[in-house]
Amino acid sequence: MDEVFLIRGGKTLSGEIEVEASKNAYLPILASSILCDGEMTFTNVPEFSDIDNMCEILKILNVKVLRKENYLSLNTESVMNTKISHELTAKLRASIFLLGALLGKFRQAVISYPGGCKIGTRPIDIHLKAFRSLGVKIVEKHGYIYCNASNMKAGKVVFPSVSVGATESLMMCATLLEGETTLYNVAKEPEIKELEKFLNSLGADIRGAGTDTIKIRGVKKLHSGEFKVFPDRIIAGTQLILGALCGENMTISNFRREDNQFLLNILKESACDFKLKNDKIIVTAQGRYPSYKFVETLPFPYFPTDLQPQLMVLETLSKGTSVIKENLFENRFNHVMELTKMGADILVKDRLAIISGVEKLFGADVYSSDLRAGAGLVIAGLMAEGYTTVHNVHFIDRGYEKLEEKYQNLGAEIKRMNIE
Ligand code: UD1
Repeated sequence: MDEVFLIRGGKTLSGEIEVEASKNAYLPILASSILCDGEMTFTNVPEFSDIDNMCEILKILNVKVLRKENYLSLNTESVMNTKISHELTAKLRASIFLLGALLGKFRQAVISYPGGCKIGTRPIDIHLKAFRSLGVKIVEKHGYIYCNASNMKAGKVVFPSVSVGATESLMMCATLLEGETTLYNVAKEPEIKELEKFLNSLGADIRGAGTDTIKIRGVKKLHSGEFKVFPDRIIAGTQLILGALCGENMTISNFRREDNQFLLNILKESACDFKLKNDKIIVTAQGRYPSYKFVETLPFPYFPTDLQPQLMVLETLSKGTSVIKENLFENRFNHVMELTKMGADILVKDRLAIISGVEKLFGADVYSSDLRAGAGLVIAGLMAEGYTTVHNVHFIDRGYEKLEEKYQNLGAEIKRMNIE
């Protein structure tokens, strides 16, 4: 059985769509709950399958998980298991965060190499090197990573290159470590600030998230607490690109301008019509835009790799030629072949996609290869003439909540179907 979205394109979309809480903030925050003594409650948890998977992994570690709609409580008092098997990590790359949290709390952990989207090799060498620099003994054997942190000491960690996950792992691992740990050359993504905010709300002493250096003064314990995570900037960007292509006064609420400034600048230069009002943005499509000559994906505050497929759809339908350079993940052009089936004119050369704008796209049978490629293909389907079937909807469900229902509410013709 394959779950698909069947889309009939060509509709103008209007009405309001709300941005859910951030998946990439929730995942490390849920993992870091292991560091706390007691119960954590979260009140705006979206229905993303990545979050379900993180909850499943936490259950195996003996965390008591209670989930009801958008409410989630985690009781970590009886966590004992510190081994995370291949079956679990294969489902979710973010399971790597558990390594930092388990080492921080129990000073030992065994974890299989993590899985996740098929967008590149996605090594974890930066995480492991950083743990080692604090004295963690690591042995890699038969696909498992055995870590012993009984001699772990606070100190300095200099990351060789910027990694969101490694920054978050080390923040977790140092929160309960006696003394001061300083992390240099860290990632500056807003999700890192959110993790800092969460841990500090429970009694941690972390400063500097959002800059190049983070200082963590170890505390003895973290207490219980309640938290609400900020809106997802990648979903916000996805809906904004959709609105720029086919919106008519389409309103995106729960929108944070500061997290999407780079995309807003691109749209402004393209003369897209949008208005910002408090936490809302109202967008109206302006036909074909002049192509934006060159965009490259880079760590925050620059253009995010997680919006690259969606932006490619916008550029595909623009006037002129544009170039997108993907710097983060080597296999993140899988959607190009699918867009080509729909009439796009895109040439890939190593990490460059050279896009010659076309007047329109045509419906086709296309396959999502990862979460964001899937979101891009849905946008392409909504813009195409005729019917598009987007396969592998399970990838999209990892980080978008009932996307078809939200788009139906805007007036789109899209339905979820099971096919043999
Ligand atoms: C996070 C996001 C993901 C986003 C990515 C980049 C989460 C759950 N996921 O992933 O959606 O696309 O940031 O913004 O927050 N690298 C190494 N060795 C390592 C770690 C990373 O070489 O040990 C490389 C990666 O292959 C990549 C780059 O560093 O080229 C950045 O990756 P990283 O920032 O670590 O991404 P993730 O944390 O995996």
